[in-house]
Amino acid sequence: MNFNEEINRIGTHCFKWDKMEQLFGVSPTDGLAMWTADSDYPTAPCVIEALRKAADHGVFGYSWEYPEYLAAVQWWMKTRHGWEVETNSILTSQGLGNAIALCIDVWSDPGDPIVIFSPVYHEFAIKIKKTGRRVVECPLARQGDTYVLDLEDAQSRLTGAEKILIWCSPQNPSGRVWTPEELRRVAEFAERNNLILISDEVHHDLVFPGNVFVPMDVAAPAQRNRTVTLTAASKTFNIAGQRTGNIIIPDPDLNAAMRQRLRTLDYGPASLSVAMIAAAYSPQGAEWVDAQIAHLDANRNLFDAGINAIPGVRSLPLQATYLAWVDFSGTGMSFAEIEARIRDQAKIAVSPGPSFGAGGESFVRVNLATSRARVAEAVARLQAAFSDLQ
Ligand SMILES: Cc1ncc(COP(=O)(O)O)c(C=O)c1O
Repeated sequence: MNFNEEINRIGTHCFKWDKMEQLFGVSPTDGLAMWTADSDYPTAPCVIEALRKAADHGVFGYSWEYPEYLAAVQWWMKTRHGWEVETNSILTSQGLGNAIALCIDVWSDPGDPIVIFSPVYHEFAIKIKKTGRRVVECPLARQGDTYVLDLEDAQSRLTGAEKILIWCSPQNPSGRVWTPEELRRVAEFAERNNLILISDEVHHDLVFPGNVFVPMDVAAPAQRNRTVTLTAASKTFNIAGQRTGNIIIPDPDLNAAMRQRLRTLDYGPASLSVAMIAAAYSPQGAEWVDAQIAHLDANRNLFDAGINAIPGVRSLPLQATYLAWVDFSGTGMSFAEIEARIRDQAKIAVSPGPSFGAGGESFVRVNLATSRARVAEAVARLQAAFSDLQ
């Protein structure tokens, strides 16, 4: 379990390092890739072992039904999140970006408004727009170092035509772990407005000590008939390239509608990814995740201490996720100036805050799922790039 191992990912079709120059103007040779949400360290040994075993078998023909996979998903949700998931409620998608698009497709029509709470994972709005739907953006309220719900404000933005609410829990990019009471209020809001509630819970495993993640389905069982939960091992085990996620739907009618769409599109998971995930969701995998959380906890403490020492800059304390959310508003600089300094002086590729919607204007998101040395290097570079601030 060496989370400080620095593996060269350049030239491996790696989105994070191989695309950074084209997308952000930062060269991978002397730059640091700290944007898209995957990790620089290898996955758990039990996952690699499962892949080796499958490769040794050598036959990769059609496969069908995956009881071990479904049992492993159920075991993980029960032991890690106190959530009993019925076998039949688990459907698989080609990752969660795909799942979000499928949900929009199945439960709304072109032109329909879809609700999101911002700042939030930018792909929610991108998928809504690309499928010809309309974004109804409800800002979260900033309260000191955190974000809270403002459902009265949200209600005032709805017209009654909305079909879906896409919710993020824990929240990317603020790192918020919502309380059961907040989740219930969101579910009741969805019910009041007759919305299908899509709860994207992909970041649910990487939660820092002192915080407890509760699945929407556990917090709000009364709204189970309208709740669709998205989960995946992709962030937790750094296997996003395997493109497999779960769409968990307890309601029989909603479940049948999604099952039918998946069948029509002839989507089934790749057998190798299923083998990897089944191995990940195990006691050995759990041990590895606990060690990863300890590594990320130390990374974020190092990062926050260094960044918060820069006058006018504030890294908000994360409750979950390895994605630091850093506010530059106290510097008084324009976003263009902030971006230019990070790109040209610090030579770090980060995710721009404005892409996460309203509330992200003065922020950047920095991915800390890397070695301790790289985090320290990023801190030193950012301190130097903003060293003129007093
Ligand atoms: C909240 C959230 N949902 C979905 C995804 C995408 O998941 P996938 O890689 O399974 O498509 C991400 C990736 O960053 C994410 O942060």
